[in-house]
Amino acid sequence: MNTMDKTGIGAAVPPETGVAGRVAALLARMSLAEKVGQLAQISGADFMPGPKAEELIRKGGAGSVLWLNDTRRFNELQKIAVEESPLGIPLLFALDVIHGYRTIFPAPLAMAASWDPAVAEEAQAVAAKEARAAGIHWTFGPMVDIARDARWGRVVEGAGEDPYLGAAMAAAQVRGFQGTDLADPERVAACAKHFAGYGAADGGRDYDPVYLPEAHLRNVYFPPFQAAVEAGVSTFMSAYMDLNNVPATGNRWLLRDVLREEWGFEGFVVSDALAVGNLVIQGYARDKRDAARRALEAGLNMDMASGAYLENLVDLVQDGTLSMDQLDEMVRPILTLKVRMGLFEHPYTDETRLEKVVALPEHREAARRAAQRSMVLLRNEGGILPLSKDLENVAVIGPLADSMEATEGSWMVFGHEPAAVTVLQGIRAKLPGAKIAYAPGPEIRRDIPSPFDEMHAGTKKPVQTPEAAEEAFRTAVETARGADLVIMVLGENANMAGEFASRGSLDLPGQQEALLKAVSALGKPVALVLLNGRPLSINWAAAHVPAILEAWEPGTEGGHAVADILFGDVNPGGKLPVCFPRSGSHAPLYYARTLTHAPETSPMYRSRYWDSPTTPLYPFGFGLSYTTFAIADLNLSAQQVQVGDTVTVTASVTNTGQVAGDEVVQLYIHQRWGSDSRPMRELKGFERVTLQPGETKTVVFHLGPDELKYWSTQANGWIQEAAAFDVWVGADALATLHAEFEVVG
Ligand code: GLC
Repeated sequence: MNTMDKTGIGAAVPPETGVAGRVAALLARMSLAEKVGQLAQISGADFMPGPKAEELIRKGGAGSVLWLNDTRRFNELQKIAVEESPLGIPLLFALDVIHGYRTIFPAPLAMAASWDPAVAEEAQAVAAKEARAAGIHWTFGPMVDIARDARWGRVVEGAGEDPYLGAAMAAAQVRGFQGTDLADPERVAACAKHFAGYGAADGGRDYDPVYLPEAHLRNVYFPPFQAAVEAGVSTFMSAYMDLNNVPATGNRWLLRDVLREEWGFEGFVVSDALAVGNLVIQGYARDKRDAARRALEAGLNMDMASGAYLENLVDLVQDGTLSMDQLDEMVRPILTLKVRMGLFEHPYTDETRLEKVVALPEHREAARRAAQRSMVLLRNEGGILPLSKDLENVAVIGPLADSMEATEGSWMVFGHEPAAVTVLQGIRAKLPGAKIAYAPGPEIRRDIPSPFDEMHAGTKKPVQTPEAAEEAFRTAVETARGADLVIMVLGENANMAGEFASRGSLDLPGQQEALLKAVSALGKPVALVLLNGRPLSINWAAAHVPAILEAWEPGTEGGHAVADILFGDVNPGGKLPVCFPRSGSHAPLYYARTLTHAPETSPMYRSRYWDSPTTPLYPFGFGLSYTTFAIADLNLSAQQVQVGDTVTVTASVTNTGQVAGDEVVQLYIHQRWGSDSRPMRELKGFERVTLQPGETKTVVFHLGPDELKYWSTQANGWIQEAAAFDVWVGADALATLHAEFEVVG
């Protein structure tokens, strides 16, 4: 039966009434129970207890299903919703498609390292096309949490430490996922998460409380969320943790005052998994009834899988605690999204489409390009890279060298079988005639398993015995001994970053550093490739290994992209979106700090600790190239401007080397005084440019009210102040090319 008749939209309200009219007509026909159903997202996965999905859907008791990745099953459940439930309202199928569905792109932190929003936009457009072909309507992405504590495992899912870069990447991903028309059958609804401040969890410990003053929230943690709203993101997800002692999921200031009143967000907010019910565990709500009431009053539209809304909202309205208007306000944007996506007209998915879409060669080409542009060359002493393709005897050593899982990285979609080209495979493909020996060395494993490991069935590898590890170590060293050059592939397993994956140390897990030292002691040329989802304190490698390539979690084409760069077919141009601390104990560490009364930039106080430097091993924005660049001719359009005016900043960038390459020109400012102390540097512009040898380009930036205003603690509001400003333009956060200007009036 066609939904249009069933829901009476077609009959009662002709399409020209528009979306709002269609939603109003439907809302007017819905029972209280059906409205509550739209606010409930239920699990499609077997690991979740609770009433079977079919029963709930048949009664109209569900608006959305998550944790299901099966096109046929989607259609089965949708058929029940559309043809058997009272009003036939279609379901929204949602899943975490964070950096690819079947074609896996570099992890979001890696894509941020490209400093090229087009990379992120294209990646998420491909992800949307594949996910929608599978029958998924809504992804729980982009994750836009600023992360300045690398111990936090979820740093891998975001765009790093900086709000300006983070905002650019957030908007690009929303555009990629959603396109310009949500009815487009190749796009999905996006979800800005986790609102807000999740990355500042105490100690980098996932879910731990967050204490952030309002100015820090507004100047640092909110901008990527605001950028997502301005890019038209359809939904938000509330974070798990307590924000200043009020859980984000029940936080009226966040969800209503800021998100709706100030930012004008008209979509809807889904909780994080079980987070409404968990308000009881957090010691915030008395029971699930109290939790349901307070979350709804705070502006939380959809309860992800906790059951609190389904079990309590009908009573809460019937006993007058909540009003029908309050309910309607929460239901309306959910129905609006369904109408805008055309789900009433096209609720089902063509089950033959997915395999055609995922086989498109341009998807893997895009993934390879994204991986190439995301990688960061951290060291290249003596120009050991690029390697010669005439090499005849190479050893590839390390537990991640042939790991598809580590290559594709964290947050794979449910049921995805890793299928990445590994680094070993990429190198062998690049040097088909050479002897490429391989040895993994001792395996690496979390000390405490991830709960995710328990959820994803699959075969459990037995723990390697100490004897076997010793044997593997010896074999690896001997394998290296027999080669002319060694490529070490080290880092973290996919389950060592992401959710449930915080750690106290940033060292290479397991015996990897010992193996690196043993191989380096052989005296052969060594290049290190890192596969990892967070900054690592690779202090020894940084001092002793001549070539280091940060490849992150590079995705399905990762092995080819690594080989493209190692052997010079691609010149790396990525830059760090997070600084690399020398130790996990230094976290949180970030460049945009205030100077204090004793700046580290002064000779007396060059370190805050007496037992180690407190400068990062590698600064924010850092990355090398196979060529060299000169950034010069810094010019300001004025030395003095009025508040509200704009200063235009120009600089030249020249490729002073022998090969083409990309440079990311970065602009930083410092407001020297104000109603608040201001960070010693803040990124306020960047541009990645490609230059032929000898070529020069001019980059142009604008510093106007949007770049110069900030939320002042003292003024308790946004202000742009008269003050003197430093301007630096360069290739990382330590840029030295300097100018200054004054804002007056
Ligand atoms: C998880 C994550 C969130 C994800 C959600 C649904 O716990 O915190 O990022 O989107 O549950 O899987």
